[in-house]
Amino acid sequence: MKDTYIFAIESSCDETSAAIIRNGKDVISLTIATQISTHENYGGVVPEIASRMHTESILYVIDDCIKKSGMTMLDMDAIAVTYAPGLLGSLLVGIEAAKVLSLVYDKPLIAVNHIAGHIYANNLEENNINFPSLGLVVSGGHTEIIYLEDDYNFKVLGSTLDDAIGETYDKVARVLDLKYPGGPNIEKYAKLGHPTYKLPIPMNDDSLNLSFSGLKSSIINLAHNEKQRGNEINKEDLACSFQTIAIDELKRKVEIAVNKYKVNNMIIAGGVSANSYLREEMSKLASKYNINLSIPKMLYCTDNAAMIGAAAYPLFKKKEFANFDLNGISTGNIFKF
Ligand code: KG4
Ligand code: ZN
Repeated sequence: MKDTYIFAIESSCDETSAAIIRNGKDVISLTIATQISTHENYGGVVPEIASRMHTESILYVIDDCIKKSGMTMLDMDAIAVTYAPGLLGSLLVGIEAAKVLSLVYDKPLIAVNHIAGHIYANNLEENNINFPSLGLVVSGGHTEIIYLEDDYNFKVLGSTLDDAIGETYDKVARVLDLKYPGGPNIEKYAKLGHPTYKLPIPMNDDSLNLSFSGLKSSIINLAHNEKQRGNEINKEDLACSFQTIAIDELKRKVEIAVNKYKVNNMIIAGGVSANSYLREEMSKLASKYNINLSIPKMLYCTDNAAMIGAAAYPLFKKKEFANFDLNGISTGNIFKF
């Protein structure tokens, strides 16, 4: 069978990235230009700066990716791009670049949902999504336990009722005066601490829904009260206490889903899947129930275009192509593509 090469572009947040993916699996080339060092000066992503920086780097990133591969655009079978969800100005930079490539080289255009990209990162290289599978989506804006029946046939079993887990990491990091992005920094501090702070367990129930805003508020209050009393906060211990409670709650809810749906396969997707405590705890859970667990390689957990090329492949096979009126959408439902 002839190989399929997809040229993919990702620019939904603070990474400009391009990749060439063979058959939705092999990463032939990948370039990522991150804006983190700029946004960390502001404590978070500044949308206007993000879109300007994408504009500055997109041509360089595309050029670098294709040059490294030793291939040309003529060798590609399709051009894929993230169209939702994300920062509108940032999405548009990638979308317009993809439209130009599609038009000039006469290649079909494929519109990819960013969260579907995180899910399909589980098909890259040695990883594989085996259907049916349970999925834990843990990103900056999403926290969902899902059931993956087949390609692009996903059902939400439970989700956060308020803050997403990644967002909670980022907000707790601010309380602790840790730099953006909060997740990796909280993880670093947590590794040096002990779970000595008593914090409330979020949603202490048996549903598959989650909630993190109560936990976040209790940390904000705790930090505020300690400050007023003139007491120092032990950042390492508070980071560790927060991470232990938050991840243990995620694990507890996934275990409820495992018992209910009795699957043989499980995947984890989204930026928070880069967290080593989560990776370890989910691996222990998978071993306990003899479940096949897929977690993307670290490089493919955070934003990158390789995952967009992987998610575009099932759409390419179904010939689900986009038109040149494709627009960016800032909010996006991962279950309506
Ligand atoms: O999936 P992602 O790119 O966001 C969305 O697409 O919405 O992930 C970004 C989120 C941020 O909230 C970041 O703090 C978190 O993932 N994150 C982590 C780690 N690395 C990134 N959270 C915990 N531990 C990490 N190592
Ligand atoms: Zn992402």
